[in-house]
Amino acid sequence: MSSNTESATENGYPAAPHRNKITLTVNGQKHELSLSPWTTLLDALRQQLHLTGTKKGCDHGQCGACTVLRDGENVNSCLCLAVMQEGSEIVTVEGLAAEDGTLHPVQQAFLENDGYQCGYCTPGQICSTVALLEHDRGNSPAEIRDLMSGNLCRCGAYTNIYNTIAELQGAKQSGSDHE
Ligand code: FES
Ligand code: FES
Repeated sequence: MSSNTESATENGYPAAPHRNKITLTVNGQKHELSLSPWTTLLDALRQQLHLTGTKKGCDHGQCGACTVLRDGENVNSCLCLAVMQEGSEIVTVEGLAAEDGTLHPVQQAFLENDGYQCGYCTPGQICSTVALLEHDRGNSPAEIRDLMSGNLCRCGAYTNIYNTIAELQGAKQSGSDHE
């Protein structure tokens, strides 16, 4: 369990006089935080817990760079107020690998298929892919494209991202399981 407090300013604005104390469960660890009511989950992860694998792109729900898993579903953490996440299990890209450092099968597949260029969108792409596979979604090329449409890639690495997901989905359906 760790404890963090924010400094007198927050994102360039004076800190709020009122703070909410919450317990946030991230990657299996409980963290006690003191937060302004308007702090997003994204800012709590990056600025208080220093989990900078989750990226800030647009900061208003347009790009998917900030995608994390909340109770197994992919969500834009820039659109979630941190104070509303008590009781939820949050998983970020840092929480996907095994304790011994073995990459999650989705991370490994992105690596093997060059499913990225600069990598800025990659944590979000990976979290959305994990949710897609775990919920048995994306059973056709159109469905994969539709479900991944909230994760933008400024580098245009879409072909390899799509191929990575299609390969994982195909392996899962044939039982040969990349996972
Ligand atoms: S940073 Fe959250 S959707 Fe762009
Ligand atoms: S790999 Fe650069 S934004 Fe997607």
